[in-house]
Amino acid sequence: MISIVAAAAAVTGPSTAAAQRRGGGRARSFLSSQKDGALRSDSTAVPEVASIVNGTSTEGPRKYMVGLTVEGSRFPTNCGGTLITPYVVLTAAHCMYFPQYPVWDPLDQVLVNLYNTTDQAGVVRINIQDPSEGGEDIIIHPDYYECCQNTYVNDVALMFLPIGQLADYAQINDDPKVPVVPDPLRVMGWGLTEYGGALSEVLLETTVNYISNEECKEAFAGTPKIITDGMMCAYKDFTDACYGDSGGPLFQVDKDGEIGDRPTQVGIVSWGIECANPKYPGVYARVSYYADWIKETVCSRPEYATKELCGSSKSGKGKSTKSPSYTP
Ligand code: ARG
Repeated sequence: MISIVAAAAAVTGPSTAAAQRRGGGRARSFLSSQKDGALRSDSTAVPEVASIVNGTSTEGPRKYMVGLTVEGSRFPTNCGGTLITPYVVLTAAHCMYFPQYPVWDPLDQVLVNLYNTTDQAGVVRINIQDPSEGGEDIIIHPDYYECCQNTYVNDVALMFLPIGQLADYAQINDDPKVPVVPDPLRVMGWGLTEYGGALSEVLLETTVNYISNEECKEAFAGTPKIITDGMMCAYKDFTDACYGDSGGPLFQVDKDGEIGDRPTQVGIVSWGIECANPKYPGVYARVSYYADWIKETVCSRPEYATKELCGSSKSGKGKSTKSPSYTP
């Protein structure tokens, strides 16, 4: 058994010219030492968390699953994300902008075809133009904010890649009636394998069960956290996502326990209190709640619109007509 929990670490000082250019000379990552925050490296704090706790290895890359990092990070990946078209990655807003940190330094390196972070043969590393450098390739949900001690509200972001990727794209769930309590759901990532532990070298996944927002609110009653309609929660004894798994997917599981080649994504790893703590479920952005925003944002850029996501009327133009240049 392996766990998804987050690991945190400290990066001391500006380690790259890019980090200095980006502002104040701090290279940060999302692995940090904060109890509930994303993994970040720009403080003096010590890593506390990790990724999936008590998960199992995926035994190879998942073509739709990407790792996210930033130049100068001490962590191989700081967040996860999913390819939802050849050119578009869905992730968490807090992987792109963390309000507690004044430096705008999004995770602008996308790692495709990644499985083992210590053996990156075959991995495609794509740099995108982030807003701190004047680019427009990262779009954060306009109503994203952080409150209540690392509670991320509307924690959704999109990244637009310059190079198309051939993959088994994740499908976004747009049905608000899905999932149903207690559906099994699959979460994956390179995050901490236990709270206070280390990041996983290989991609891990685990299965948790959907719980209602009412039940989730009860679990977090007495904490400063809030559960909004745009959030969803999942829980299973002893297993959970953890730090470093943020931005990664929560998928629907079929009756055979499989997620399929083109899995349906119902959630985005967002936040929790510690990891696999029996008192607290894991909290995810609810994909169906943001499906319209995701589609509008992607499909309003004709060169990124695909038939599958946008329907036939918006397809056929620009990049979507080109063959993706990379075949994993
Ligand atoms: N915010 C964390 C990150 O940035 C994810 C935490 C998920 N925690 C949990 N217990 N499910 O990686």
